[in-house]
Amino acid sequence: MALDMRRVIDPDTYFDHNSPPTNLGWAHDEVDKFIKAQSPDQRIVLVTSGGTTVPLENNTVRFVDNFSAGTRGSCSAEQFLAMGYAVIFLYREQSLQPFNRNYSHNTKGVLSFLERTNGQIRIKPEWEEKMGQDLDNYQKYTQENKLLMVNFTTLSDYLFLLREVSLLVASLGPRVMFYLAAAVSDFFIPSHSLSEHKIQSATGDLTLHMNQVPKFLRPLVKNWAPLCFIVSFKLETDPELLGPKARHALEKYGHQVVIANMLHTRKFQVWLFTKEEAMRPAVIQISQDDLDAGRDIEQDLVEELARRHQQYISSTLQQD
Ligand code: PMT
Repeated sequence: MALDMRRVIDPDTYFDHNSPPTNLGWAHDEVDKFIKAQSPDQRIVLVTSGGTTVPLENNTVRFVDNFSAGTRGSCSAEQFLAMGYAVIFLYREQSLQPFNRNYSHNTKGVLSFLERTNGQIRIKPEWEEKMGQDLDNYQKYTQENKLLMVNFTTLSDYLFLLREVSLLVASLGPRVMFYLAAAVSDFFIPSHSLSEHKIQSATGDLTLHMNQVPKFLRPLVKNWAPLCFIVSFKLETDPELLGPKARHALEKYGHQVVIANMLHTRKFQVWLFTKEEAMRPAVIQISQDDLDAGRDIEQDLVEELARRHQQYISSTLQQD
């Protein structure tokens, strides 16, 4: 079927014209098992994390990436687990993962937590406690069925997986939170317009025409998971745009919370926008000293969201 890609397509049309990821069936079965293993009042959160890629070729050598290391998502997942949530972690392959993030992307240097003593490789004493806690927590949460990790790479992988997981958890209603921290592409090249093979440089400059990706928050809030507690993120680099764009998202999609953050201060300051606090958003902030002392803003952020989620669950129970 021919498709006019100059206009913004609707989400269903997007799915009709793109192929699902190879792990979709596996993800369906694992999420299904995961939610069936939870007790009836268990709070569950879907954390999305990392950036989506948009391929420029079908046999992909080059792609456009969205900025996100996965710090927000992986750190938040750890906090949600500590607060008693069961976590489905939908993450970009090779981005930061809970309990592994301090070792896979160690800012103090590659393998700097190891040393060789008398010919034996061992963990440096100053790392032992932290590593031991991370290992214990990771093993405990996976064995107790409290952490499930599902990975994506491309925009299309992400959208298929997001829809699949949303439809599966939707029946659990208000006790499910969506925490959409992944950085999702706003532009893509439709699969029928993609070059089959590596684009050749011999032809000179490259001009790309990218189409707008439909906003998937709309079907998520309205159709896929209408009873769940939905938190989206708004990332901007221009401070003038942040508040207006966060308010606009709330009005347009009608979900519960928008967390606004600026690219360069995202580790120190975030604003929580809700319908009631649209003009006076709650601010959560930490200092550089806090950060240097190993404190993450996600601790306060997740605590605050868990509190609001609990209020949401209680208010929907009262309505029933
Ligand atoms: O991982 P870190 O390095 O720690 O960085 C964290 C972060 C800055 C990436 C994170 O805090 C953040 O802001 N994530 C959202 C980034 C983003 O995609 O913002 P946006 O303004 O493009 O999208 C806003 C919302 O719309 C998002 O919740 C997204 O899930 C949703 N969206 C986006 C595009 C699209 N086509 N459909 C969507 O539904």
